[in-house]
Amino acid sequence: MKRIGVFTSGGDAPGMNACIRAVVRTALYYKIEVFGIYRGYSGMIRGEIVKMESKDVSNIMQHGGTILQSARSETFRTKPGRAKAFKQLKKLGIEGLVAIGGDGTFSGASIFAEEYPVSIVGVPGTIDNDLYGSDFTLGYDTAVNTAVSCIDNIKDTANSHNRLFFIEVMGRDAGFIALRSGIASGAEAVLIPEEKTDVEELIKTLDKNYKRKKSSSIVVVAEGKTGGAFEVAEMVKKRFAHYDMRVTVLGHLQRGGRPSAFDRVLASRLGMEAVKALRSGKKGVMVGQIHNRIEYTPFEKACKHNIGISPIMLEMVNILS
Ligand code: F6P
Repeated sequence: MKRIGVFTSGGDAPGMNACIRAVVRTALYYKIEVFGIYRGYSGMIRGEIVKMESKDVSNIMQHGGTILQSARSETFRTKPGRAKAFKQLKKLGIEGLVAIGGDGTFSGASIFAEEYPVSIVGVPGTIDNDLYGSDFTLGYDTAVNTAVSCIDNIKDTANSHNRLFFIEVMGRDAGFIALRSGIASGAEAVLIPEEKTDVEELIKTLDKNYKRKKSSSIVVVAEGKTGGAFEVAEMVKKRFAHYDMRVTVLGHLQRGGRPSAFDRVLASRLGMEAVKALRSGKKGVMVGQIHNRIEYTPFEKACKHNIGISPIMLEMVNILS
């Protein structure tokens, strides 16, 4: 393989820059020419492709976001869109791609590789941690730490006013950020899309805390939970009118910021392994790290959301709150 491209696609995640750096430097180490493709599949279609050198990725690892920018492309979902994208790659002689992103990115990659002779290896880059085939995805650790730091701040004000706070964290289809940040911040309850919410149970827990004269209560709600934090707060308000409640949505705050050391190291390792995988002829797979070992998972399997929430984590919330 003489020429490869690298791009970031879907929601950006802290650690993507460290991964781009690793891809570029590993490729150059093996004397492979490397091209940066801007704005994901959208930029591929439009030919926003630039040759990269080692200095282009200097001093980027400590920054959140992605220097290649990102997008969710509707055009790439169409056959003519993918045809245009392939034409651009062919023009430059690009034979392999490293795709850094989440399930949308890999679903697109899977179809593209079926239609055209291009080898694609993926790196899991999403704060949601909702891909099968890697214990952790790039950005998850940083996002959880950001959420915990915000929840700690909210607890200061909540304690000062004896308030109950419903805090919504990101995670469109998955409760991983909610569960981990909830445990790390000592939340009274964590509500996630994977689990049915028993409102009676929730009210019992909150009531118990109220009677124990706890100075505040925190309920972490995953974005993907039907109705989100506002709806849950409304439900509780009906039964618990005496409680002073507030709702905070952390939103995109969780997507930015300096990547944690954990994310930088993971991104560096997976970026390097992705290039090695392309060199050794692998394609249609996501490179992940499971129990500290590198594993390759076909795109279709990685995207299936069949990871499952750890029952131990749920038990921790119940026992320790
Ligand atoms: O997939 C990552 C994610 O941050 C989800 O947690 C969230 O639902 C979504 O992206 C938000 O996407 P956008 O930035 O397009 O609003």
